Amino acid sequence: MSTCHTTPAEGSRRRLRTEFARLVRLFGLWRNEVGDPEPFYSALAAEAAADLDRRHGLAGAELLDLGCGPGYYTSALREAGARVVGVDMDTTGWQGTFGLVQGDATSLPFPTAGFDGVFCSNLLEHVADTAGVLAEIERVLRPGGWVYLSWTNWYSPWGGHEMTPYQYLGPERGPRLYEKRHGPPRKNRMGEGLFAVHVGPTLELLSRRRGLEVVSVVPRYWPWLSFVTSIPGVREVVTWNCLIRMRRRWDDFR
Ligand SMILES: C[S@@+](CC[C@H](N)C(=O)[O-])C[C@H]1O[C@@H](n2cnc3c(N)ncnc32)[C@H](O)[C@@H]1O
Repeated sequence: MSTCHTTPAEGSRRRLRTEFARLVRLFGLWRNEVGDPEPFYSALAAEAAADLDRRHGLAGAELLDLGCGPGYYTSALREAGARVVGVDMDTTGWQGTFGLVQGDATSLPFPTAGFDGVFCSNLLEHVADTAGVLAEIERVLRPGGWVYLSWTNWYSPWGGHEMTPYQYLGPERGPRLYEKRHGPPRKNRMGEGLFAVHVGPTLELLSRRRGLEVVSVVPRYWPWLSFVTSIPGVREVVTWNCLIRMRRRWDDFR
């Protein structure tokens, strides 16, 4: 008879190796993202859908993919069994994807309390009115509903997007100097398609939303480093992409 024992140390090493392999694979796909976005976004979308299915069970759930872009996440969430409406201001890349709606995240064309979950990836830093987006997320969720909110925070190593690393000179001086030296960025121009959205002030805004309860705050790509999100200053850089999970409160339903 053979037995297979794994010590806690071996288990930790195995998890570490798996996580490291995952990051190397994602980083490789991200480096080719500009020329070939599909593999990177499909991998992230499949990962997010599997995670949400484990946490909430997606079969039959009615979800909103807020700022859906071309719909990679909408498709992955549907494959996991959810009924998903994708919404975006920009309809570019929508050919062939059904059930997407053009709309503004700060003024959604949906009734109150219509969704079981809101998935919102990498929208927040592209909208001037962060508070407006949070208010709409709260409004369209059913009591007990969940939120997955992630974005690239401003002082993250990729916070300036095409202007990186000029974001470290601040949201005014950085973009000004970038444009003086390189001209306007190809996309995501500061104040038009890109805004400085930080971790601390976003949590502060959320603390004032009585209907939303923050469940966890983690770096999206390295969630095992979750402790960094409680260190002001450090979290603005190390988090890279901040993921806030929330739940719609029952007792404050208006
Ligand atoms: C970086 S893409 C994110 C796409 C996708 N969610 C992802 O994570 O890959 C940001 C998207 O937000 C959309 N967007 C920007 N401002 C918006 C607004 N006010 N309302 C709805 N969508 C908006 C843009 O058109 C763009 O498709």
